[in-house]
Amino acid sequence: DSNPRLVAVSNRVGPLSDEGQAGGLVVGLSDALKRRGGVWFGWSGETSKEGTQGEAKTEVQENVEMTTIDMSQEELQGFYYDYANRSLWPLLHYRLDLAEFDRVSDKVYRQVNHRFAVRLMPHLKENDLVWVHDYHFFYMGSELRQAGYKGRLGYFLHIPFCAPEVFSALPASHDIVRALLAYDVIGFQTDTDRCNFVSFCISELGGEKLDEDRVRVGDRTVIAKPFPIGIDAEGYARFAVSPEAGEHEEMLLSMTRDRRNSDGEGAERKLIVGVDRMDYSKGLLERFYGFERLLEDYPENCGSAIFLQVAPLSRSELDAYAELRDELERTAGHLNGRFATLDWTPLQMMTRGFTRKALAGIYRAARVCLVTPLRDGMNLVAKEFVAAQDPEDPGVLILSRFAGALDELKCGCIVVNPYNTDDVAAAMQRALTMPLEERKRRWEAMREAVFTGTAQRWCQSFIDMLETSHHEPAAQT
Ligand code: G6P
Repeated sequence: DSNPRLVAVSNRVGPLSDEGQAGGLVVGLSDALKRRGGVWFGWSGETSKEGTQGEAKTEVQENVEMTTIDMSQEELQGFYYDYANRSLWPLLHYRLDLAEFDRVSDKVYRQVNHRFAVRLMPHLKENDLVWVHDYHFFYMGSELRQAGYKGRLGYFLHIPFCAPEVFSALPASHDIVRALLAYDVIGFQTDTDRCNFVSFCISELGGEKLDEDRVRVGDRTVIAKPFPIGIDAEGYARFAVSPEAGEHEEMLLSMTRDRRNSDGEGAERKLIVGVDRMDYSKGLLERFYGFERLLEDYPENCGSAIFLQVAPLSRSELDAYAELRDELERTAGHLNGRFATLDWTPLQMMTRGFTRKALAGIYRAARVCLVTPLRDGMNLVAKEFVAAQDPEDPGVLILSRFAGALDELKCGCIVVNPYNTDDVAAAMQRALTMPLEERKRRWEAMREAVFTGTAQRWCQSFIDMLETSHHEPAAQT
């Protein structure tokens, strides 16, 4: 057909299957690519001596051609661990206290961007739409231009773009934003992220805002626009009624069904769940404190409420992540030691992963889902929870004011400030006691948003913008 080919670039590639657990990028992008088809280029997930110079591997899954290359140990360390996840990730999530900057990793990060661009070039065809993803590849666009690529070039940032006051602490902040200007369209999760980027262009680089979506710096005019990412909502709702989901749902229901509360009365099901990569941006510790406060201030929940936190390990080689794990385990142990009875353990944290189908069953068994990050680009768990609910008996979403998903889900969630322990505890109590009619009303509003703003629509609206964006390759050289 006449549709130009889509070439997506990201550090993590696939899998397209429903197996395993992934970050929001892989979820959103694979849901979108599955529908449209195309090429997905990135890191193989493996290291080798040759690294980015080694042979590329290609695997075709459904209608997506996935091409990956390795990294060497040094590349992985400098690019992924040190620069992407020790400098950029904490910085963009407003954790300057955790961000570390050094020139070695800065150099390796730029080199790896260069290498990936060089390795991608031979795969590109004239009419392709190249779409680069996330904070691993800030320099990829300018590297592709330098390598002679003249086609349309888009970029999407999956995580927050922090305020210029914070971003300007990064030694390479100017280089990075200038490099971003090589793209034709720069997509963000929310309008706040876009505004932060545009104000950086204005205050730090002397740029000017031309209209709502366009910013000019020197001779470069780019489109900067929010494109909130979504999920394949219908597909996910089907997962939730699959046999695998059903088994998990049933297991959890039988665990909570016959629980009595502290007054010895038969209680309603009171399962609270959280599902997050174990990351300091997710507000897990604050959430545990909130649950502890719930048991202190609303003791009728003792004996009946169970909080299940699924927290698969992530980036554990980094100190900040290893320390977080210790602290969470300590806090969970303390909480259980304080409140548990012979037949009730209030908090269960597990670091094992589940398939997306199993998770859908877990969401469906839950009365309440806690999505309380201190900062989050979007958060697709919030959307998956909504898509997985039983329309006749839907659960309640408690959502942080600092999650990108709030824009679309404030119509039905309970909003909390994750730093405010009393606020989180009160929200849990309210959710646990919310009448069915109110739960239905809130859920229906959120359902509408989740089924409208899907992954497919995210992809399509970005591509439409990229195709119509005015592109003058000749003017740049
Ligand atoms: C976030 C990022 C993704 C990343 C994912 C998992 O969602 O936006 O780019 O892939 O976290 O993190 P990891 O470091 O394991 O790729």
